[in-house]
Amino acid sequence: MDYRIALVQFQPKLLDLSYNISKMERMIKDVKADLIVFPELATTGYVFNTQNEVDSVSESSTAGKSIDLFSKLSSEKNSSIIYGFAERTDDGIYNSAILINPDGAKYIYRKTHLFAEEKKFFVPGNTGFKVKPAKGGVKVGLMICFDWQFPESARSLALNGAQIICHPSNLVLPWCQQAMIIRSLENRVFSVTCNRTGLEKNGNKELYFTGMSQILGTKGEILIRTSEDKEEVAVVTINPELALDKKVTEYNAVFEDRRPEMYDLD
Ligand code: ACM
Repeated sequence: MDYRIALVQFQPKLLDLSYNISKMERMIKDVKADLIVFPELATTGYVFNTQNEVDSVSESSTAGKSIDLFSKLSSEKNSSIIYGFAERTDDGIYNSAILINPDGAKYIYRKTHLFAEEKKFFVPGNTGFKVKPAKGGVKVGLMICFDWQFPESARSLALNGAQIICHPSNLVLPWCQQAMIIRSLENRVFSVTCNRTGLEKNGNKELYFTGMSQILGTKGEILIRTSEDKEEVAVVTINPELALDKKVTEYNAVFEDRRPEMYDLD
């Protein structure tokens, strides 16, 4: 089965929902793909100073500028679309990602492992690592940025049947792109890390985001890796069924050979 995946690396403008959404729309105008992945907090920017700033660009998961537009685009383009946004709820604001399918189905993942000052502005996610069907029934698992640091994130998604781990990101530390090679390899899944670019300043705070978005194969192969600093769309065709094969040798398979009774976790 041929399955086209596009990732869209770009630099969102801080606190400018309308600009970001229009830019995202423009960047995928001519893209033909089964699955399109944008970065973490793609609609909002990242370097917040106050809760009011986060509130001002947050949206509900059921209706709003971005959900309405990307629901329409998903159906028109016949593509599943994933992007990060600030999700407003009665419990507070989550750092979330949404999967929108051409048939109108929507699934939310709320970031489990909040990074640095995100802890000041976002509520820790409560969805866990569930796997959902994207276009064509391909099983997709979502994690967001710093979730990479915890092998349990990708492992949970893979054990739950993910064929492709989609990983919207705003990376600032230098290790994730290499670490994800191991996450793909040890779980025998495809992974799509879609990072943002650019230096973002707010008052006396600033962060530089590392680009180098990538799509990895089930043996950790780098199928594509983008530049550090350019806005770009990268497209790769994969066969998601390869992720169903967990065999390492004739005698070994990555899940069957696990021995949880030997692992003193908790
Ligand atoms: C991060 O989790 N945005 C570094």
